[in-house]
This record gives sequence, C-alpha cells and structure tokens, in this order.
Amino acid sequence: MNVDEITRVCVVGAGTMGAQIAQQVALAGGYEVRLYSRSRERLDAAVASNAKLLGKRVEKGKLDAAECEAALARVTTHTDLAEAAADADLVIESVAEDRETKRHICQQLSEHARPDAIIASNSSTMASSFFADCISNDERLLNVHFFNPALVMQLVEVVRGPHTADDVVDACMEFVRRIGRTPVLVEKETYGFIANRILFIAMQEAFRLVEDGYVSMEDADLAVKNGLNWPMGPFELADLVGLDVTQDILSQGHLQTGEERWKPTEILTGRTARGELGRKSGKGFYDYAR
Ligand code: 3HC
Repeated sequence: MNVDEITRVCVVGAGTMGAQIAQQVALAGGYEVRLYSRSRERLDAAVASNAKLLGKRVEKGKLDAAECEAALARVTTHTDLAEAAADADLVIESVAEDRETKRHICQQLSEHARPDAIIASNSSTMASSFFADCISNDERLLNVHFFNPALVMQLVEVVRGPHTADDVVDACMEFVRRIGRTPVLVEKETYGFIANRILFIAMQEAFRLVEDGYVSMEDADLAVKNGLNWPMGPFELADLVGLDVTQDILSQGHLQTGEERWKPTEILTGRTARGELGRKSGKGFYDYAR
C-alpha cells in the first residue's frame, strides 16, 4: 500500500480519542472519514464536541468558516461496522482499552474491511502483536498511537510489529505527515512505546513524592511546570487523561513487564475506586465541580 492509495479512512470508536482523531484526519488531511460507534448517542456527542472545538477556532480567526463546515461534513457517522469499514483504505481502531473488545473488533474488521486495508490500532497498552492472529494478512497491521487531545497534540507514534510490512509502515509515516502531525517510528514493540514510557514513569515519581510526604500535589505540579516547562503538571495531566486510563496504563505496564516501577499505588487506586476519574467525572486529583 502506498500513501497515495489512502483516500478513505474509517475510525472505529467515538470516545475522546476516536472522535478527535477522525476530525483531525478530515480537517488537516482532507480525507473522507467514516466514524463508527455502537452507540448513536456517543456519535452525536462526538460530532457536537468536534463542532464546538472547531467553532472556537473560527471565532478566534484561526480557521475559515467554510473550511470548518467542510471538515465537519467530511466525517460521517455509522452504527454499522460493516458499512463504515467496507470501502476504507485505512482503519484506525480506537475502542476501549480492553483486550477482548479490541480482539473482537479486529476479527470483525478482518471480515468486513478490504483484505488490503491497513489496520492501525491506537492502543496505548497493547502492541499490535496482541491482535495479529485475529487479522487475515497481518502484514497490514500496526500501532498508530495518538495523544490526548488529538486535535492539539503533534506527536503520533507509528509502531512496527514483527509482522508489519515495510510499505505499510512507510505509508503510515507519510499519512501522519499528511494529517499535519509529526510521526516517530518505533522500530520494535515495547511497553508504552516511547512517550508514554517516559511520561508515566515520571508521573509515578510525582505520585510517590506526594504519597511519601515530600511535597504537596499542588507544589509538585508547580515544580514540573516551572522547572521543566511541561504545559501541565503530572496531577493535572492525570486528570486530563483520566485516572482510570492512567491506572490502566500503569497496571498493564506492571503486568506486561513485571517491573515494580509501573505498579499503581494508593494515591491513584483509592481515587479510581471512589469513582474520582479526573475532569470527566468532575473530580480527580483536583475538583472541577462547577
Ligand atoms: N480537546 C481539544 N482541544 C483542546 C482541549 C481538548 N480537551 N483542550 C484544549 N484544547 C485546545 C483549545 O481549544 C485551544 O485551541 P486553539 O489554540 O486552536 O484555540 C488549544 O488547545 C489551547 O488551549 P487553551 O488555550 O485552552 O489551554 P492551554 O494552552 O493550556 O492548552 C493543552 C491545553 C493543549 C491541553 C495543554 O495544556 C497541553 O498540551 N497539555 C499536555 C497534554 C499532554 O501531555 N497530552 C499527552 C497525554 S498522554 C497521552 O495522550 C497518551 C495516551 O496513550 C494516554
């Protein structure tokens, strides 16, 4: 597959990541995008959220109103996976970080997408090898990993699996450039790939410093923002990513590598057990109650 052969893209899953990935592909790449979710409500929420975010850009004079309308119209929504995936040249799966859910989706894609369509997983915790046996012709399977919020963050990691064909890797690297993003090539599968491996281990250090009484959460965030120039401190960032997602990334890291440094601790597990999941639930490390 050559990048010029990619004209239609299907994004599977319309959560925080899938919704914005679909919109970025349509906005910056000019691609026709089919966005799939089982849930009509979720699709409607994704469309409304994207319209609001792009609308703000129009208000600020950063985006032309006609371009905004056209980019929104290029994303169509579907509750039938066969219909959404049938004519796609590239499918990006971004469903829940649950192994069985992703394997099931991959099996369905193997059935409904064209046999030469590239299948890219946005998973942050599962390398594409986890799904290789679910896909006919696994040479077209790899990870293409976006960051949150996908309409803003520049980086996309393209991860070569042992099964992935070179032309598929090359096409995805170029595709990422065409959607206005900066790709990095991860040559071998490793837990957390590059950015998350660095980020989440650093977050663990911050969590431990606070748990062990060396610093308050607020001052740890101030230290990292002012001393390291991160745009957000680790606690603010965990609230943005979601404490459940953060815990899942750490738990999977512990499980997959066997290394203690990944093991989530009370400061996180206590909050997730209480349903304090970050911005999306109104409370996490910080309070977002209006
Ligand atoms: N969704 C979409 N766009 C958003 C957004 C969101 N949740 N939050 C902010 N934005 C947009 C704003 O609309 C604005 O866009 P514009 O400049 O085009 O008008 C732009 O981002 C800047 O927003 P603000 O001025 O309101 O706020 P900031 O300048 O503080 O930026 C931020 C917000 C972009 C979230 C910035 O704080 C940041 O970069 N934070 C770090 C994010 C990060 O590290 N992400 C990686 C997380 S790890 C991950 O994703 C891996 C995964 O596997 C878990």
